Amino acid sequence: MRTDLFASSLKAVPFFEGEVVSGRKLGRKLGFPTANIDVNINWLNNGVYGVSVKLDGSTYLGVMNIGVKPTVDSNLKRTTEIHLMDFKGNIYGEKISCNVIFPIREEKRFNSLEELKQQIKEDIIYAKKHFKHRGLLAADKQIHFVREQVSKSS
Ligand SMILES: Cc1cc2nc3c(=O)[nH]c(=O)nc-3n(C[C@H](O)[C@H](O)[C@H](O)COP(=O)(O)O)c2cc1C
Repeated sequence: MRTDLFASSLKAVPFFEGEVVSGRKLGRKLGFPTANIDVNINWLNNGVYGVSVKLDGSTYLGVMNIGVKPTVDSNLKRTTEIHLMDFKGNIYGEKISCNVIFPIREEKRFNSLEELKQQIKEDIIYAKKHFKHRGLLAADKQIHFVREQVSKSS
């Protein structure tokens, strides 16, 4: 049922794969640990997105930031990092695949870490609402569209 529901949007779901690498680990201090992904996504603008991530056979929902992290970093190196919602665990070195499901906002420079933290909380609330709206409630194998399915349907 659910698969049918999403069949029409299958072609439009962008997809990438990458390995989880070590970041500066500030995310944990912020209260939102992130998986830094070793990938260069030149087909997306810097910003925050709602994503689904396939990891070790399970699928998780998350929020992804692509950009230069102007609030915390002065070297302006572009990174891709994902906070997986309702997930705890060490996934360094693991391969993930990721569907970019919807945009949330542009990346911004905040005046303090506290403001950034507050914004990320709001991003998560917004993302959860949108996932729910699309029938994506929690970790669920059916919601992940693998590349093979995308190309078959196109
Ligand atoms: C959902 C989300 C939104 C984010 N938005 C911004 C942002 O607008 N501006 C910014 O400077 N950093 C943003 N970040 C990046 C955080 O600064 C970053 O996760 C934190 O510094 C930890 O980085 P580290 O894992 O390299 O230590 C965002 C991160 C997440 C997970």
